Amino acid sequence: MLHKEFVPETSENLPKNGKVTWQSPSNIALVKYWGKKENQIPANPSVSFTLSNCHSTTSFQYQRTESATLEFDFYFEGVKKDDFKPKIQKFFERIRDYSPYLQSYKLEIHSENSFPHSSGIASSASGMSALALCVMSLEKAIFPAMSLEYFNRKASFLARLGSGSASRSIEGPLVEWGKHADFEESSDLFGINYPHELHEVFKTYKDTILLVDKGQKTVSSTLGHDLMHGNPFAEARFKQANSNLAKLIPILQSGDLPAFIEIVESEALSLHAVMLSSIPYFILMKPNTLEIIQRIWEFRRETGVPVCFTLDAGANVHVLYPQHSENEVLELIKNELVAYCENGHYICDEIGSGARRIDNG
Ligand code: PMV
Repeated sequence: MLHKEFVPETSENLPKNGKVTWQSPSNIALVKYWGKKENQIPANPSVSFTLSNCHSTTSFQYQRTESATLEFDFYFEGVKKDDFKPKIQKFFERIRDYSPYLQSYKLEIHSENSFPHSSGIASSASGMSALALCVMSLEKAIFPAMSLEYFNRKASFLARLGSGSASRSIEGPLVEWGKHADFEESSDLFGINYPHELHEVFKTYKDTILLVDKGQKTVSSTLGHDLMHGNPFAEARFKQANSNLAKLIPILQSGDLPAFIEIVESEALSLHAVMLSSIPYFILMKPNTLEIIQRIWEFRRETGVPVCFTLDAGANVHVLYPQHSENEVLELIKNELVAYCENGHYICDEIGSGARRIDNG
């Protein structure tokens, strides 16, 4: 199905060449997206904190050609990477109807991440959102009257076609993606800035990512999403995510941290529970993931410090806590949790405000 609002008019006004660079962050979901329908439509809505320090920087040089077929070269950290091209090619094919002007260009794309490539941190959210933003900057050069609202909305729409969670990496500090009755403007097609009141405590929230396993994931998220189709608990899981999203609204407004913790941790464990119950079943957590979870629970019981965890589709643990608990939590991490991290590595991050263009454009 073609979404007409994102199909541009034809234009003769194609710039000859240019270059644009975007820095786009990763995000961490509080209510998880896992399971999708055709064309990257999520099976349930989700909401995430936009991160700040974990980001991709992508520059995009465009040169008009006469060939009428998009050509591109891709460089990762300065090295030409032909093995990354099929994924990007697929993205360009998916967005073809929405960005037809790309067919008139040859592109040189350079990308790098602020986090180590082999850190087990998925770069698809930051990488695909950065690329979508570069495409939108070219579109804006063709249609200069475009509003900022449309720019961001379409960037999220395009990013979603690259990787679902990338739709939540354009803006910040919180982004909701997927149709939900309590979010009037929400859509399965793009993420929206969290529209409800947000308590001060969440505006400076911290996320320290403990790198338990830096290896490549054994099951890709594409396959993981797909396995939800035969999962006996799928419908219950989608219902739970919808209900958790509704429950979060008053919690995010009041700053009720115990209630926040319960939903966030339950979401992480439910995500992994549906992995355990897929056919074929799989486990992405490692023994050290569980050691860390146990230790966080003990610490919280002993000290009352409102620290909690969440997980992505991997073994790494995101430790979430308010800024006012930073000293205690960093002590816990340095004194104890670091022992469960591969080579003692972890990344300190915090809630961020979204992507930014960094080439003075
Ligand atoms: O964007 P994808 O297809 O890589 O899916 C990511 C799914 C999770 O990270 C596990 C959850 C989420 O909502 O980000």
